[in-house]
Amino acid sequence: MESLIYLKDVKYKYKDNQNNTALKDINVKIAKGEFISIIGSNGSGKSTFARLLNAIILPSEGIVRIKGMNSWDDSFLWDIRKCVGMVFQNPDNQIIAMTVEEDVAFGPENLGLSHNEIIQRVHESLREVGMDEYMKVSPQNLSQGQKQRVALAGILAMRPECIVLDEATSMLDPQGRDNVMKIIKRLNTEHKITIIYITQYMEEAIMADRVLVFNDGRIQMDDNPQKVFSNVSEIKKLGLSTSQVAELFYELSKEGYNLPKDLLTIEDAIKAFKEVLNS
Ligand SMILES: Nc1ncnc2c1ncn2[C@@H]1O[C@H](COP(=O)(O)OP(=O)(O)OP(=O)(O)O)[C@@H](O)[C@H]1O
Ligand SMILES: [Mg+2]
Repeated sequence: MESLIYLKDVKYKYKDNQNNTALKDINVKIAKGEFISIIGSNGSGKSTFARLLNAIILPSEGIVRIKGMNSWDDSFLWDIRKCVGMVFQNPDNQIIAMTVEEDVAFGPENLGLSHNEIIQRVHESLREVGMDEYMKVSPQNLSQGQKQRVALAGILAMRPECIVLDEATSMLDPQGRDNVMKIIKRLNTEHKITIIYITQYMEEAIMADRVLVFNDGRIQMDDNPQKVFSNVSEIKKLGLSTSQVAELFYELSKEGYNLPKDLLTIEDAIKAFKEVLNS
């Protein structure tokens, strides 16, 4: 069976920026149910990649297929958009209606569903993000974190198979970020929704099963979080940061200490130190 998301030899140039190729050579397959995070320095092509996935833009060269549907074929446009939902950085740009309820209903209304089905989806989606008590509230009166959860509910109400989040937590405080992250994790594990999570936070990126590291329009690394973030020299070369624990073990191993690699979290470090100290 073909992957949910399939990109082959993809290049992308923005029309008004012909001297600069935003994506130079992207080859990637993403299977249904995967939780992927994407990191990379500013301008490395992460958002451009995201926009290709629900046909906001079309590749200048190469192939983008979503569930087997080539994004260049207009007749698939709505099915592609139904399959892949997008959540962006600023919730204020995504919320349009006067009440939370109306806002979440907007997508399903455009799908031409029955009134009952729409109401059911709105309730379900708001419950999923813990915002069902705010149904009648004006989105203007919500915090940024709450607004972002409403935006996410609006996407969920479309029942997508895949959700792409482009720095969706970067305007939220740590607690707001944590709330959104937990919801996303649950949508992946319990509802098997494929997640593509673009972030600048290493602590968020390591929650994924697989990390894609973008650099200058290419995917430079594609591996599990342990492999990616323990490659401290490469990560630093790309202008990114890794965990303090990974750096600590990297520095110690440079000084000749024989310690395990692939350690990222405080819990990993405690376990490793206990083993060394007890031996
Ligand atoms: N709308 C646009 N028009 C013209 N050029 C663009 C446009 N959007 C992005 N670019 C260019 O394409 C390249 C990739 O940008 P993109 O926004 O995909 O990077 P990014 O990794 O998302 O960066 P950031 O971390 O800053 O969000 C950059 O060189 C950028 O200047
Ligand atoms: Mg971006």
